[in-house]
Amino acid sequence: MHRRGFLAAGLATVLASSRALAQMKMDDTSMPGMDMGGNAGHDMGAIAQDAVTLPDGQALRDLPLLANETDRPGLFRARLTAEPAVARFAEGLDTPILAYNGMTPGPLIEAFEGDRVEITFANRIDGEASTIHWHGMPVPPDQDGNPMDPVASGTERVYAFDLPEGCAGSYWYHPHPHGRTAEQVYRGLAGAFIVKAKADPVPIEYGDTVLVFTDLRLAADGSMPGNGMSDLMNGRVGDHVLVNGQKNPRLAVAKGARRRLRLYNATNARFLKLAFDGATMTVIGTDGGLLAAPATADEVLLSPGERIELIASFNRPGPVTLYTLDYDRGWMGAGRPADAGLTLLTVDVSEAEAEGMPPLPARLRPIAPLAAPALSRRLVLTETMAMNATGMEMGFLINGKAFDMARVDIVAKVGETELWEIVNQADMDHPFHVHGTQFQVIERERDGMVSKAPYLAWKDTVNVARGETVRLLLRQDRPGPRMYHCHILEHEQLGMMGVLDVVA
Ligand code: C2O
Ligand code: CU
Ligand code: CU
Repeated sequence: MHRRGFLAAGLATVLASSRALAQMKMDDTSMPGMDMGGNAGHDMGAIAQDAVTLPDGQALRDLPLLANETDRPGLFRARLTAEPAVARFAEGLDTPILAYNGMTPGPLIEAFEGDRVEITFANRIDGEASTIHWHGMPVPPDQDGNPMDPVASGTERVYAFDLPEGCAGSYWYHPHPHGRTAEQVYRGLAGAFIVKAKADPVPIEYGDTVLVFTDLRLAADGSMPGNGMSDLMNGRVGDHVLVNGQKNPRLAVAKGARRRLRLYNATNARFLKLAFDGATMTVIGTDGGLLAAPATADEVLLSPGERIELIASFNRPGPVTLYTLDYDRGWMGAGRPADAGLTLLTVDVSEAEAEGMPPLPARLRPIAPLAAPALSRRLVLTETMAMNATGMEMGFLINGKAFDMARVDIVAKVGETELWEIVNQADMDHPFHVHGTQFQVIERERDGMVSKAPYLAWKDTVNVARGETVRLLLRQDRPGPRMYHCHILEHEQLGMMGVLDVVA
């Protein structure tokens, strides 16, 4: 059986570097995923039994914009403060969270290609270092919030970078401190960063709506429970998938309207396979901006960390829902959450006809294929699990190694295209992410079957399903250290991360 294979392989390869491995007490819990008599069904407390009810159906709110403090052209200057705050997700319940500028998700940042960005980050989280990582953005390594550059509690620093021409896209920002990323993100620290194009081919009449998905778990008293065993293994999946912090909000549009939607999976570990019931969907962009040409889709899979840009066409009156479909990403133990049938957003389409909806252009922008690779690398993802005297140890490894901040795993040359082959030999899907650049997925291989990528696209995060190999082309244009890791943040934290040193 699959699970036994996992365990046997795990026991044989467990590493001694316990620093990166999870240590869990076994006293009051049984181990999920193991067939040990009648114990296997015991859940590890990951799923709240009496989930708190959240109000739903409120009008979708626009994320508040981070105000630019200067009117100097070409400069975006602002402050982001991470600090404890209290949110009200459920009626009458206070939820202690971490917030950027008092809110979760954090304020929406909008800047333009060619802009200079200067953001002062103040860390007011008690006793914890933090950083701001600019996920997917082409910023210099020393401005990218690497775990090697912590901002100590009670201190601040400035992140400064230039947004190159052609980098328009749907990026985001979140903390990346060593060993605390998962917790800081699920407690509330994540926000969207849109780089706008100077000339945007998408009709302005479609609007531009940002939808940030997060995944909230609330205890009966309104607090956010810490991570249990199942969370560490599978990544933390909550009880409520929220959109811009709201449960199933409503949006009103006229019949025939088209809307530009930017979907963000800012959850720690929730795979979102999405479809519209009653609207058609056209994919126009991925993590790193627009595609060359629009591509129709019936459904899209958005794994943790990924973004997608869509045009939704609402051609029939009445309520239309954005809902989730089943997606089996490999789940360890009991308590697999229901993936299907979550309604994330409801769109009320009126009888009145929308006016003046220009067609979507057939060509969006040119995407040049990356050059033939100078070399190729193979990165093998595995999971390990072992029992010892004090509990169970789990590790998530790349090429047999758990993350070590002091170790350089890969040295690459500035400007040189490489072929990366990401091989998932584990029992769960792992969304693979590389900092500092956008890559092009070439093909996927599974059971000897190779399928080419459906279109050329700029990506910084790609799901590598269990048993699958993904081949991608990648080039880094700035020297310095970069991280690559699984974007299930608990897996990143438990070792599935490496350091790439880019040298001139
Ligand atoms: Cu969102 Cu290291 O990444
Ligand atoms: Cu990143
Ligand atoms: Cu993972």
